[in-house]
Amino acid sequence: MGINADKIKGIAFDAYGTLFDIASIDFLLEQLFDDRARQVAAYWRRKQLEYTWLRTMMGKYKDFYALTRDSLYYALEATNTSATESQVQELMQQYYHLDVYPEVKGALSRLKGHYRLAILSNANPSLLEKAVAYNGLDELLDEIISADQVQQYKPVPGVYQLAEKGLQLPAENLLFASSNTWDVSGAAAYGLQTAWIQRRHSVMESLDVEPAATASNLAELASMLLGDEVL
Ligand code: LAC
Repeated sequence: MGINADKIKGIAFDAYGTLFDIASIDFLLEQLFDDRARQVAAYWRRKQLEYTWLRTMMGKYKDFYALTRDSLYYALEATNTSATESQVQELMQQYYHLDVYPEVKGALSRLKGHYRLAILSNANPSLLEKAVAYNGLDELLDEIISADQVQQYKPVPGVYQLAEKGLQLPAENLLFASSNTWDVSGAAAYGLQTAWIQRRHSVMESLDVEPAATASNLAELASMLLGDEVL
């Protein structure tokens, strides 16, 4: 399935793993937990995802920041790692200061002016706004769209629908870009055109939906859409 570039008028980007690099937290994790850090990080990220899905299925919404803290507590307990409350706070604060991947600003700058640009994320608005401001992305994004509006998490169709409302464009004119395979599948199932940002070796889900395009990073996606060279 190919991308129908002529139709695209707006692009919505997932946040974590797509724009923001979660590995920015690894340095602090290693400082605090040494050889346990990798295990804590793996549990933390996995539980964070599971809690978004579980809470959505249970009808028990809790905002992304609070749910991320819950998943950190779980990760610490599961790995027999002790941490003080101030260390937990310090780790959570990192979410406000995540770095973007190196090519993100350049790619968004190239796309701006050609497309309306947004973040469509599970994260709550204050979390997104601070991470956006920290990286100076405010000028490049037209909208910051959060699943918090519907109190459910991706891949619920109603969350992807927010991209249409937020960017005021119908699904056929929207491209959703994410590095998370389950997220790409959810958006494609909803009816958005999708680009899978395959930052590292990973395998697409077997969920009967395929991304319209695959790019190794956002610079490549911009070149694909604009038909110019990777800078
Ligand atoms: C988000 C997660 C899924 O930003 O990366 O929604």
